Amino acid sequence: DIKGVLFDLDGVIADTAKYHYLAWREVAKRYDIELCEGFNENLKGVSRRESLEKILGIKNIVLPEEEFKSVLKEKNELYINYLEELGEDSILPGIKEFLIDLKRSNKRVAVASASKNAPYILEKLELLKYIDYIADPGSIERGKPEPDIFLDAARGIGLKTDEVVGIEDSQAGVDALYRANMLSIGIGDLRNSLYNLESTGELLDKKTRRLIFKG
Ligand code: G6P
Ligand code: MG
Repeated sequence: DIKGVLFDLDGVIADTAKYHYLAWREVAKRYDIELCEGFNENLKGVSRRESLEKILGIKNIVLPEEEFKSVLKEKNELYINYLEELGEDSILPGIKEFLIDLKRSNKRVAVASASKNAPYILEKLELLKYIDYIADPGSIERGKPEPDIFLDAARGIGLKTDEVVGIEDSQAGVDALYRANMLSIGIGDLRNSLYNLESTGELLDKKTRRLIFKG
């Protein structure tokens, strides 16, 4: 039986994936790189550092470490500025209700996001009370699609891999769950998931309810 749910944050709990994209677009432009939504899919679930490597890789640009670091800092400042706009309606459809249902049914909830801004965002959205554990990406060496962060998240809520299901909007994330031997629900058109939903609103539908709340 499923005893807990592991949530990705950006694009699953909060409508923040668009802010990452806008911030990266601005940064990329300085190097004459035009980011498009298709390429952006490769950045979802990927750490800040690795994202910049991928972006600069488009033009085979390699920056000295110092400049690289200052670009990372700048990207995060742009991103944090966008986060000023965060409010109740930044919580994606159905998520709050779903979290309330999980709490009521004594299911455990963990967040497994590559974002170092996750605790800040969850606090700002007043969702911390629904969450039992937040994995710290800073202390996990291998990012998604490696399974480590989901293994840590399951451990954090005291559950085994076959007692949890992960919810992800990125291919890297679904692949990480797959490698962790965990069930996954994809948001969007993803490979390797148990099934995909078009939107988080569908988490309240029968299919997901049967999987998580049965028994
Ligand atoms: C998530 C997002 C990525 C982002 C990463 C790091 O995985 O999907 O787009 O690059 O977190 O986020 P951070 O807030 O630490 O830069
Ligand atoms: Mg995501």
